[in-house]
Amino acid sequence: MSDFISSFWSLWVMAIVAFGIIFCVAVLLFGAQARAATAEDRTTGHVWDGDLREINNPLPRWWVGMFWLTIFFAIAYFFMYPGFGNVKGSLGWTSAGQYEAEMAKGDAQVAPLFAKYAAMPIEDIAKDKDANGMGQRLFLNNCAQCHGSSAKGGNGFPDLSDNDWLWGGKPEQIMESVTKGRNGNMPPQIQAIGGTPADAKAVANYVMSLSGLPHDAAQASIGKGKFMACAACHGADAKGNVALGAPNLTDKVWLMGVPSEANIVDQITNGKTNVMPEWHTKLKPEQIRLVSAYVWSLSNK
Ligand code: HEC
Ligand code: HEC
Repeated sequence: MSDFISSFWSLWVMAIVAFGIIFCVAVLLFGAQARAATAEDRTTGHVWDGDLREINNPLPRWWVGMFWLTIFFAIAYFFMYPGFGNVKGSLGWTSAGQYEAEMAKGDAQVAPLFAKYAAMPIEDIAKDKDANGMGQRLFLNNCAQCHGSSAKGGNGFPDLSDNDWLWGGKPEQIMESVTKGRNGNMPPQIQAIGGTPADAKAVANYVMSLSGLPHDAAQASIGKGKFMACAACHGADAKGNVALGAPNLTDKVWLMGVPSEANIVDQITNGKTNVMPEWHTKLKPEQIRLVSAYVWSLSNK
């Protein structure tokens, strides 16, 4: 496959390459003519400070030789490797092919390492020092940019080192989160609770009362009656639902940091979606096993 969008660019590159080589050859041949002449003939006619003559001396032979070598090298290279427009080169080398060959070689080297863990339960992998180290490296390379290098998360990114889970903390639940990704989705709920900002304010105060945050008790008791709408996902006891990724609202763990009334009103009014990417496209199943075991180990010391 050619990387060029039209054959024009291929011809354009060929023309520039050919011109470059022909130009260098021409300059060298021109220089060789100068060598033939005698020193007398080579004078430029410029005389400085009375007797200092400027002579057009030929280039040193070793230098000219090197220059010819580079030209032959370039021609041989373009014959064997891609580079001359979209000509493929006689060796059939491609950067993608080399990458694949090296990856395959790397995979073959680590395969026995991974094979050892394929049949081991996550709990045992987590206790294995080598496996845990590999899991941690996978985590640092792939997960730390969102969940933090110590897995403590951040605004919108869950803490994976505590024992509070949106989607469940059993080994197979963690593996599922990592393999398929997760889509935390709370649609706007304002209509379901009455539709006005006052309704949202009341429910927000009720939510704050659940985890002991400072709240307006009168508002909270109004809000309690409207929490039915939320119970479908967060549960009647507001302790969350791992099947939907709906967080527990009664604990002190908050995905977006400890909320104010305004934050919760905003969550109710506008809803929120939050995406954990799927990894089965990027990591192999055996890598997912190791990184999941590492994550599991963080909250199961
Ligand atoms: C682009 C950012 C991003 C990256 C990279 C990322 N995650 Fe996540 N992850 C998230 C978000 C956001 C959530 C929360 C989804 C939600 O709100 O439901 C999440 C959730 C999770 C959960 C579920 C947490 C719970 O409480 O149930 C696990 C487990 C997890 N991630 C592990 C990983 C692992 C392991 C990696 C690396 C292989 C990784 N994540 C890489 C953004 C990311
Ligand atoms: C359709 C299911 C669903 C309904 C109904 C729902 N929620 Fe949610 N809620 C979620 C999900 C899923 C999340 C997590 C979103 C994320 O991953 O960022 C969430 C997150 C929240 C949060 C943030 C929690 C945190 O840890 O930061 C609050 C507060 C909240 N919901 C309150 C409510 C209230 C109040 C109602 C009722 C008015 C409600 N929810 C109704 C699914 C729902």
